[in-house]
Amino acid sequence: AITVDPAAKGAKIDDTMYGVFFEDINRAADGGLYAELVQNRSFEYSTDDNRSYTPLTSWTVDGTAQVLNDAGRLNERNRNYLSLGAGSSLTNAGYNTGVRVEAGKKYDFSVWARAESGTTLTVTLKDADGTLAAAREVAVSKSGWAKYRATFTATRTSSDGRLAVAASGAAALDMVSLFPRDTYKHQPNGLRKDLAEKVAALQPGFLRFPGGCLVNTGSMEDYSEASNWQRKRSYQWKDTIGPVEERATNSNFWGYNQSYGLGYYEYFRFAEDIGAMPLPVVPALVTGCGQNKAVDDEALLKRHIQDTLDLIEFANGPVTSTWGKKRAQMGHPKPFHLTHLGVGNEENLPVEFMARFKQFRAAIEAKYPDITVVSNSGPDDAGQTFDTAWQLNRENKVDMVDEHYYNSPQWFLQNNDRYDSYDRGGPKVFLGEYASWGNAFKNGLAEAAFMTGLERNADVVKLASYAPLFANEDYVQWSPDMVWFNNHASWNSANYEVQKLFMNNVGDRVVPSKATGTPSLMGPITGAVGLSTWATSAAYDDVKVTDADGKTLLSDDFSGDAAQWKHTGGGSWSIQDGQYVQTDAAAENTMLSAGDPAWHDYDLHAKATKKSGK
Ligand code: AHR
Repeated sequence: AITVDPAAKGAKIDDTMYGVFFEDINRAADGGLYAELVQNRSFEYSTDDNRSYTPLTSWTVDGTAQVLNDAGRLNERNRNYLSLGAGSSLTNAGYNTGVRVEAGKKYDFSVWARAESGTTLTVTLKDADGTLAAAREVAVSKSGWAKYRATFTATRTSSDGRLAVAASGAAALDMVSLFPRDTYKHQPNGLRKDLAEKVAALQPGFLRFPGGCLVNTGSMEDYSEASNWQRKRSYQWKDTIGPVEERATNSNFWGYNQSYGLGYYEYFRFAEDIGAMPLPVVPALVTGCGQNKAVDDEALLKRHIQDTLDLIEFANGPVTSTWGKKRAQMGHPKPFHLTHLGVGNEENLPVEFMARFKQFRAAIEAKYPDITVVSNSGPDDAGQTFDTAWQLNRENKVDMVDEHYYNSPQWFLQNNDRYDSYDRGGPKVFLGEYASWGNAFKNGLAEAAFMTGLERNADVVKLASYAPLFANEDYVQWSPDMVWFNNHASWNSANYEVQKLFMNNVGDRVVPSKATGTPSLMGPITGAVGLSTWATSAAYDDVKVTDADGKTLLSDDFSGDAAQWKHTGGGSWSIQDGQYVQTDAAAENTMLSAGDPAWHDYDLHAKATKKSGK
């Protein structure tokens, strides 16, 4: 039975409580939300991005062509360009099965070209069945680099299109682009409509961007003005604004090339277009996501801090300010109303992180006292790093702490009360990333149950976002994801529907309620089990993983500080057809990981004994 006391006043729920987290993972940007249809438009793909890449990835050449990296380039940030021989042509294969066009819709072609005058570029859109639009001719009229444009109207719908450029005379080409006119809200350099609309339909309270591991990885030392535009440099917001042909591409942490066509200006604009509070995250000079390093360089730290101040000016400053002027020049004289900013993501060196965070925060608060500077709690939701991080956040009176966790649906059911015991006088929580392992209905259900716990604690949990948001089905690094797509279709997960339910129906205030006679959530659990569910949870005394016959495979009594899974069967143990259980050389510490969507198919049983008093 549920007893509700309508007169009692529970926590106020902020309109911004539920939001989205966009990270360029699973090709969520290029080949995804960013509407560009040409892949590798500036010939910058490199083995630094992905071992299989070349500067001509996604292109085929008929005739002669060479990618050059010399003083003849378009500009210093756009290193490569293509030298196409007279009478030769070049064809792009787009993303997934090709270039997607829809009958009757307009597509804007553009290219930067340099050639002897008299050279004509013939641009065509075709698929295996023939022409998709009337061909266009572009006369190269200037002696130096210049931008040329043409517009196609598609005569047929196809997802297998190819864009080809043929040159009558020798020509240098760069930034070969094809953009649908019909972007979200018709914004230039805009977003793919169906994907943006799916995000808009959620009515998110905030948009966290651009990462994730994308933010706190890469070489922090290779700063944006490093010579030769070093790849694998950390994500720098200044690299991502201004004319697209001047945005140096970079290696994406997730194993591909990122064009930065979807950059900070576009993120802010998208947040504004969907009525969401923008919440950018900047790197804090401590690398995470498996690269445990704190960069000790005062000058570099100062520079990153100054960049963060410049970012706030870019978002909020008057058009007379240096960075506000750049925003205005890009088409948005009005401010973007930035109020919250994350410093760092999942740093697993909490002491080093806090030392740097404090310097960021001091500088930001001195100049912009109204900005909420968000810290984080490290990579896990439990364990020593998490505890130390939280302790430091509390001691340093941090306003808000970003927590992340990915767990089994059972964990979400069992941890509905997670925030009931959080200190009401301490930092607020930004649950920046969470998801149960799967896109099935039961996952959505478990997340929904968990979200009632978030909402009940809306005085402590101020912001929450499922992660990751997007996945292109042909380029997946991380699963599950909320919205899936290819080059012509997109579809929602059960998890999306749960998020939508909560975001579309944000209450004003919690109405306290009591439930009696509810079944205990503890006891034998069938389905997925994982390290972060069990071994890192301080809430349990004893955990056993058994097979379907009840034979104990793994156990941990949590007698020590660190989780020590013990093999009761002896030796190493693994699940066939997947690396879900990894054993170290000593065969003592075993990690269960959920690296594959098939994870939930294994019939394992876990039994946990809840610690008394928790
Ligand atoms: O959401 C996917 C990844 O999970 C994020 O990049 C990172 O912050 C977390 O580990």
